[in-house]
Amino acid sequence: MKSIVIASDHAGFELKEHLKAVLRDKGRMIIDVGTNSNESCHYPVFAKKLCKEVLKSNCFGILICGTGIGMSMAANRVNKIRAALCTTINMAQMARQHNDANVLCLGARILKPNQAEKIADAFLNEKFDKENKRHKIRIEMFD
Ligand code: RB5
Repeated sequence: MKSIVIASDHAGFELKEHLKAVLRDKGRMIIDVGTNSNESCHYPVFAKKLCKEVLKSNCFGILICGTGIGMSMAANRVNKIRAALCTTINMAQMARQHNDANVLCLGARILKPNQAEKIADAFLNEKFDKENKRHKIRIEMFD
């Protein structure tokens, strides 16, 4: 199983620690690239760090901030990153099946920890629908 890279800003720190523990309990290898406390910090710094690692290791990433919006905006500036801000299980499944998202963005001030867990599981367990060529064609149009 591939590693999963995780990062947050101060607003997402507690949820990051929670998800990290839950995912490790499930046998996942987690690479945490920060932040490491509740102290105020700048989310684009951690979005960029995570994207670099995701592309290097060709794996999934999870980014968490207050709403998930800033993280998704910052991550989607990076070429070959397809970051999806998801608030439901269905969005997470569709982000993988149709958009081949490689980064999941979550809002710690939007979701309860157990909702975030379910969304993360759905994202990590879903596959890109390779058989359906139109999804690939559309993704290739991004660049
Ligand atoms: C931090 O207060 C907050 O702005 C940040 O976590 C995030 O929600 C930005 O999109």
